[in-house]
Amino acid sequence: MGTRVASYSEKGGVGKSALAAGLAAAARKRRMEGQPGVVFAGDLDPRGTLTAELGAIDAAFTMNDLLAMDPKGESGLAADAFTNASEAWSGVRVLASERPLAHRETDPSAGLEFRLRISLNGVDGDDDFTVFDLPPRAGGKLVSSGLVAATHVVIPATLDEDGRIGAAEAMDTIRMVQQTMNPGLKVVAIVPSIVPGGKSTLGDAIGKHLAATYGDLYRDDLAIPRHAVRQATRFACVPVTGQPGKEALALSTAYDRILTAVGESV
Ligand SMILES: Nc1ncnc2c1ncn2[C@@H]1O[C@H](COP(=O)(O)OP(=O)(O)OP(=O)(O)O)[C@@H](O)[C@H]1O
Ligand SMILES: [Mg+2]
Repeated sequence: MGTRVASYSEKGGVGKSALAAGLAAAARKRRMEGQPGVVFAGDLDPRGTLTAELGAIDAAFTMNDLLAMDPKGESGLAADAFTNASEAWSGVRVLASERPLAHRETDPSAGLEFRLRISLNGVDGDDDFTVFDLPPRAGGKLVSSGLVAATHVVIPATLDEDGRIGAAEAMDTIRMVQQTMNPGLKVVAIVPSIVPGGKSTLGDAIGKHLAATYGDLYRDDLAIPRHAVRQATRFACVPVTGQPGKEALALSTAYDRILTAVGESV
């Protein structure tokens, strides 16, 4: 099994999808520079933000199709479900979302939360990297599917009430998943997200609060800066790692640092 990272918070607009795209971009860049392995991206948000950014909206087979299928314990079904990302994201393999994925949330099928993990068994090898973009929900089947299939989770937190509450509630859900469906799930960090200016987030009231509450799990050193280039790359559907300019470099560096932190967390 490879490294599988879920980007999760229970609040919307805190930069989950930006982090997912950023980690995919950083992992892809490392592969382009010679590191072995494949980069996979799984979109569990029915709105398909990451799917659109990676240019996979016309996928013939989607996350919804996969989760609607009963794997009956059979591993590896996801191998055929991945589709190629756009040219700009070449090399990345996408498990795309589509609107009907929302219906899986009320699908009463037993064990639905385990389908993604079972389907991925044997698909990714030790060198591979997978990122899952999760919807902003308090639990539910889509969030659980991602947290059950993941080996690691990173929580982006904007320095406001939404960021704080989203992180706190995500930690509660993660603890529940660790106690039940995925004991091996590792929380890498709560990372300050969309941070204006270049200052330490520990001078900020919410940053202080998160550091006091979560100790070393709150990583001021992994802060993701706010830069307009993020909006531009999202709109253009291109990885931030290939873009010119200081802002793109700052963002690429931030995502690469988080990738390193994932690798270092045991
Ligand atoms: N580092 C950044 N700098 C500037 N803007 C950013 C940054 N990260 C994200 N954004 C912008 O902030 C908005 C919210 O980000 P994003 O969509 O990643 O959040 P999300 O948590 O996935 O939201 P949702 O809960 O709706 O899925 C988007 O418009 C995004 O482009
Ligand atoms: Mg999102």
